[in-house]
Amino acid sequence: MTETNSTAIDVRRNVRRVLQVNGEALDVLFAPYKTLLEVLREDLALTGTKHGCELGECGACAILLDGKPVLSCLVLAVECEGRAIETIEGLGRGAELHPLQAAFADLGGAQCGYCTPGILMTAKALLDGEADPGRERIKEAIAGSLCRCTGYQQIFESIEEAGRRMRCGTAHPAPAAPATVAEP
Ligand code: FES
Ligand code: FES
Repeated sequence: MTETNSTAIDVRRNVRRVLQVNGEALDVLFAPYKTLLEVLREDLALTGTKHGCELGECGACAILLDGKPVLSCLVLAVECEGRAIETIEGLGRGAELHPLQAAFADLGGAQCGYCTPGILMTAKALLDGEADPGRERIKEAIAGSLCRCTGYQQIFESIEEAGRRMRCGTAHPAPAAPATVAEP
């Protein structure tokens, strides 16, 4: 059973909405009481966004809605039609990593990785708005994301390094120049 009228929602009937996810319009049928987190994971099989506390306390479910970080466990999916939804699946371009992903991999910013998608999306919004935010702004931006593994130091350093690489227009640092060997 479905309904398409947004003015009267019967919670016993599925709703159909077109959701803009990572630049793609997706026609989705789902139960109207589902959160955006549940629709992403269960109806769209986008399981990169992690399911943590479901209470707005851990940050694991953070995604971008119209370019701003939100906790997808606190947003009803029916309210997201026509809004730009960005998830971790859309962060890289095909096989090309986003500078944040590359820096986290290079500097050990991710260990078990459960907190990582939420932190990466939150950091993306920060770096999209501020080219060089500095350590205090980075701490403030990801304060709502809990990490049980890293102690945060590598996370801060990874975001700083990603910012540097983005300012240089590269995902990876330039390879070191080969040492010149003196002729005998
Ligand atoms: S699952 Fe959303 S904040 Fe924890
Ligand atoms: S890397 Fe394990 S929770 Fe953050």
